[in-house]
Amino acid sequence: MDLERILFTQGFGSRRQCRALIADGRVSIGGATCTNPDTTITPDALMSFEFHVDDVRWQYREKAYLVLNKPPGYECSRDPQHHLSVFHLLPLQLAERGVQCVGRLDQDTTGLLLLSDDGAFVHAFTSPKKKVPKVYLATTKHPLDETQLGALREGVLLHGESQPITAVSANQRGERLLELSVLEGKYHQVKRMVAASGNRVDGLHRERIGGYALPPDLAEGQWRWLNDADLAMLRQS
Ligand code: URA
Repeated sequence: MDLERILFTQGFGSRRQCRALIADGRVSIGGATCTNPDTTITPDALMSFEFHVDDVRWQYREKAYLVLNKPPGYECSRDPQHHLSVFHLLPLQLAERGVQCVGRLDQDTTGLLLLSDDGAFVHAFTSPKKKVPKVYLATTKHPLDETQLGALREGVLLHGESQPITAVSANQRGERLLELSVLEGKYHQVKRMVAASGNRVDGLHRERIGGYALPPDLAEGQWRWLNDADLAMLRQS
């Protein structure tokens, strides 16, 4: 693949913009500036191909898979209505190459958010048919009790739904701390389920998707690429 196309696939703008970036001497490979947009990288070399743009290191990735520790006050939308967008926390190139949220979190929800430009991956972790459990920690307004936990485990009917929604598990982790695992990703699902059980969510944090937990060393607002081990864990759902 030629260098111009590599930059294009990695989100550095239109073909023309990528060509100009290279011609302007802003791209280097192995420490040497490369001003020829037609420089070819073989398919084998592409797998571990690294380049710098304006001294920032990039690795070629056919598809982008990332994890973000979402802070409160960010919307999972490119076109946010009242807050900043989670895309403000990522390099521009990632939004440019079509990375999208793998299921949305409310603006006030924190924790594990996956993003990718791989449509099949997004579908695999958002479709309720795929039955991937999502684990949330909810801080409740009132102390939890067995009746509420029982309702969540047996199923609660949400407004506009024809069937009750059942938690995969609902466990008390503190007087007002609920660990809830659900398969679906419906609008405000956890908040509505907890409300239907007779309590209220005051704070919500996503801890886990399938076999993958939010890395404890990933600070709020930080993101990183998912590696092969992370992707394998995710698929162990
Ligand atoms: N359920 C909710 O109510 N909100 C979220 O952000 C995620 C799940």
